[in-house]
Amino acid sequence: MDTVIGIIGGSGVYDIEGLENPQWITVESPFGKASDDLLVGRLNGVKMVFLPRHGRGHVQTPTSINYRANIDALKRAGVTDVISVSACGSFRDEMAPGDFVIVDQFIDRTYLREKSFFGPGCVAHVSVAHPTCPRLGKACFEAARAEGIVVHDGGTYLAMEGPQFSTLAESRMYRESWGCDVIGMTNMPEAKLAREAELCYASVAMITDYDSWHPDHGEVDVTQIIATLMGNSSKAKGLVARLPDLLGAKRKDCPHGCDKALEFAVLTGPQ
Ligand code: ADE
Repeated sequence: MDTVIGIIGGSGVYDIEGLENPQWITVESPFGKASDDLLVGRLNGVKMVFLPRHGRGHVQTPTSINYRANIDALKRAGVTDVISVSACGSFRDEMAPGDFVIVDQFIDRTYLREKSFFGPGCVAHVSVAHPTCPRLGKACFEAARAEGIVVHDGGTYLAMEGPQFSTLAESRMYRESWGCDVIGMTNMPEAKLAREAELCYASVAMITDYDSWHPDHGEVDVTQIIATLMGNSSKAKGLVARLPDLLGAKRKDCPHGCDKALEFAVLTGPQ
């Protein structure tokens, strides 16, 4: 089976570089409109599909993003492996702005988003105990290392609704009581939906700030985020450019079963 790499680009990452025959295509979804058209092309012999999560021009808020349409559009475009790239705040001294984290766990505090492709008429419960694909996460980690990026292997991401940043009390609670490493507004329900769609999913979180808990860094604001994002986005593009060689043009079944997530998940019988 051919590998098709899907990249969901977050704040600061609105395209990918070096694509052969790049083309923006529209993919219709019964779940509504995706954030934007998909940019498709080939990189080192591997098909790539890019979706800017907030749309070109950054027009979708974390809450208004149609996560179901985004994942569905990628699936319909033939994507096998989804790499989510997004900005985040850090709860750890040693995870500094400019560093990347290969997220492997989430706490989902979002509450205003459609979170499942299933519903009345077809009931399914997939496991998200291990919400990211270790094979894909390893490739992202290696790509980051090869690019000279300071990268942390594993971390727990608190997904908040936003659009406001956290209060100081929330920031301290997520860090001290809940043991979270980073915080962002967009990886959920994206990761859960990718699992329902039987897609391998990895999350590359680019640290832009220390949220509001850090006594030496004051509160987070958008100016600070944008300044760090400028550097992060060129690093992210370098990381993405290494993925085709690391993942290869041909793909076997996922050793972790991401591509068979629905096998024992559907409760509704044939109608
Ligand atoms: N994205 C970047 N930094 C963030 C933060 N501190 N909180 C939530 N989302 C973020």
